[in-house]
Amino acid sequence: MATFSSGGGEKNEATERHAHVVGWGMAVPESALTNEELSTFVETSDEWIFARTGIRQRYIADEGESTATLAYKAAQQALEIADILPTDLDLIVVATSTPENIFPSTASLVQDWLNAHDAGAFDLSAACSGFVYALNMAADSIRAGSIQSALVIGAETMSRILDWQDRSTCILFGDGAGAVVLQASEVPGGVLSSVLRSDGAGSDLLGIPSVGSIDADDSRASSNGAKLYKMYMAGSEVFRFATRVISESIEQTCTAAGIQVNDIDLVIPHQANLRILQAAARKLGLDADKFMSNVERYGNTSAASIPIALCEAIEQKRVQDKDHIALVGFGGGLAWAAMLIRWGVPEPSEQQGSMFNRQRRHVQYRIAKWRSRSRRWRRRVNRKVREIRV
Ligand code: ACO
Repeated sequence: MATFSSGGGEKNEATERHAHVVGWGMAVPESALTNEELSTFVETSDEWIFARTGIRQRYIADEGESTATLAYKAAQQALEIADILPTDLDLIVVATSTPENIFPSTASLVQDWLNAHDAGAFDLSAACSGFVYALNMAADSIRAGSIQSALVIGAETMSRILDWQDRSTCILFGDGAGAVVLQASEVPGGVLSSVLRSDGAGSDLLGIPSVGSIDADDSRASSNGAKLYKMYMAGSEVFRFATRVISESIEQTCTAAGIQVNDIDLVIPHQANLRILQAAARKLGLDADKFMSNVERYGNTSAASIPIALCEAIEQKRVQDKDHIALVGFGGGLAWAAMLIRWGVPEPSEQQGSMFNRQRRHVQYRIAKWRSRSRRWRRRVNRKVREIRV
């Protein structure tokens, strides 16, 4: 088992750099698919799905929507709330299991569309824990002093890797994206501690075989019987794993931050199944209403579920200044991750005029489109000129 953790939230706060969440945004596709609609083409029922999972509906991307378009929309909202320009970003990370391409990264597409021309960009693969992993990487880079601000996105189009004949998985998942802007600040708080864990011995319980698979030349199935590019899951074993690691990792991240589990004001868990969250709350001795849940409306959106739930918790005023917020993700890998944040958005600096910046951001998005097109066009012209010369 590989382990990694970082923490020590309260030490030398006055002299340390802190990584604060200063912006947030989310996007889901236009079309919702209800349990009733699902049961017209899969042998299942609204009663079964709701009783076993707490899910009533999920959003499904249509032809014009993709992981990158959803990520882009969520990112624009997050930049709006942070009131910073895309050109101020140093890093863009997209956590996803359903990237646009193996490469280029979805993050690079978002970087281009935003005109974030000074930002590095990459995708991170840690399934449903991906957003917490990505947030930890960005926060550590900020605290180490190597970057000032980062855009961290969880984005998925799970509908495209589901086997719609397999009722044990296709009922669970949905599409969407959530994003946060993290920024360096001297104000104590922000990300206090993180715990990242992995147990690859459980790789046969949950996964999506892809191009690098040992069976990649067999278009029908991989060595454990799973179809290429389609999700497989051993549901009940994943269920048991999830309830165990949620409580364990939250306790560990509290210890690393120097607080008690009872000091947590709100847990924002990966939204896989309401029963998993209720069991984890019981294990931790926390009231179930301290666990944010919106799985009923979105299903499991994998790496997007935590930032989407965070956005809704903020909108519902369940997140207040100085609150201790625990994030926890778990899933394919097996991998899991927990993080403790002391909420406290630093006041924006006086020079930032929201209206003015909004217009500047919109100009930058338009410039981004033209910049991309003109670069491609220039490359094509140069290629033609070279061909003519030869
Ligand atoms: N509708 C109706 N019946 C169904 C359905 C369905 N959609 N799916 C399964 N059943 C049936 C089964 O065939 C079985 O019937 P049987 O007893 O006659 O054989 C019965 O219901 C019970 O099946 P179980 O699989 O034991 O049901 P369970 O209570 O375990 O619920 C579920 C299944 C919802 C998938 C649950 O195991 C679960 O939520 N697991 C965790 C999923 C998860 O958390 N994933 C997280 C990470 S995802 C990621 O990282 C990408």
